[in-house]
Amino acid sequence: MEEQLESLKKAALQELKEADTLGVLNELRVKYLGKKGSLTGVLKGLGNLQPEERPRIGQIVNAIRTQLEMEIANKSDELKQAELDKRLASERIDVTLPGRTSNIGSRHPLTLTLDRIKDTFMRMGFDIADGPEVETDYYSFEALNLPKDHPARDMQDSFYITSDILLRPHTSPVQVRTMQAADPGQPIRIIAPGKVYRRDYDATHSPMFHQVEGLVVDRGIRFSDLKGTLELFIYEIFGNDVRVRFRPSFFPFTEPSAEVDVSCVMCGGKGCRVCSGTGWLEILGSGMVHPRVLEMSRFDSDKVSGFAFGMGVERIAMLVYGIDDLRLFYDNDLRFLRQF
Ligand code: PHE
Repeated sequence: MEEQLESLKKAALQELKEADTLGVLNELRVKYLGKKGSLTGVLKGLGNLQPEERPRIGQIVNAIRTQLEMEIANKSDELKQAELDKRLASERIDVTLPGRTSNIGSRHPLTLTLDRIKDTFMRMGFDIADGPEVETDYYSFEALNLPKDHPARDMQDSFYITSDILLRPHTSPVQVRTMQAADPGQPIRIIAPGKVYRRDYDATHSPMFHQVEGLVVDRGIRFSDLKGTLELFIYEIFGNDVRVRFRPSFFPFTEPSAEVDVSCVMCGGKGCRVCSGTGWLEILGSGMVHPRVLEMSRFDSDKVSGFAFGMGVERIAMLVYGIDDLRLFYDNDLRFLRQF
């Protein structure tokens, strides 16, 4: 009997050693310790033994039972740990894998150009002003000394909403709004970037485009201030090698008026297709604020004077980047946009 128990124990321990999954381990538990297990069987058979033998054999069986239970529990922990280790190893995050990069877009060439323009003027002490894109006749024309028969007031050239309200055809209304909001004693030094609308559409004109207006009003502002400011701006945007030319012109809200040209950035002034052989490119309109415009906005034209200018952002961007069709700015073609 004792020998039988001893070999049972040996067999159990051997099988335990070989058990390599929790499933196998469980089968083993059932086989030896379960209700119909071998060890249980021995215990049940105790009744057949001599009464004086029973306690001793019973003790041995219980000792084996306790040992097996303990070893099975240990093995179970061991196998669980091994399984966990395996899972951790297989599910490990490989931090050396390159991550998925998100696509970072680039700024639109018009935004880049606008930012450079703003930056240049802000460094000269200009503030940024703005005004509505849907504007009244009064701010768009009347207060700017634009006579009733001026072509910009023609229904054919501007987008009218009613006979009195239109999409602004230039940023100049912001001049008026700024002066009227200001204390007439205070100097003004602003630029006003924004969208403007005209009924044009071809390779160099779009029904919506951007302008930057400028206005300086103070005591003793002279034409030389206008020249110096705009020359500095142009050298900043186009580089120090371009030449600048002020050409007499006409705007109802400035007197005298000048259009400003730079030597052609494509041919350096020799004459090419871009500058139509002239060697010059017109980039902005400007002039000394007309006294009547100052007066209409409560400024005393005997005490203060000013200059104003307006430029097309698309045109400047085209010249800076060598773009020959303005419509590219609005096509949203990534092959174009990615180049900036
Ligand atoms: N508003 C004019 C235009 O759109 C430009 C301009 C602005 C000219 C200010 C002189 C002074 O053409």
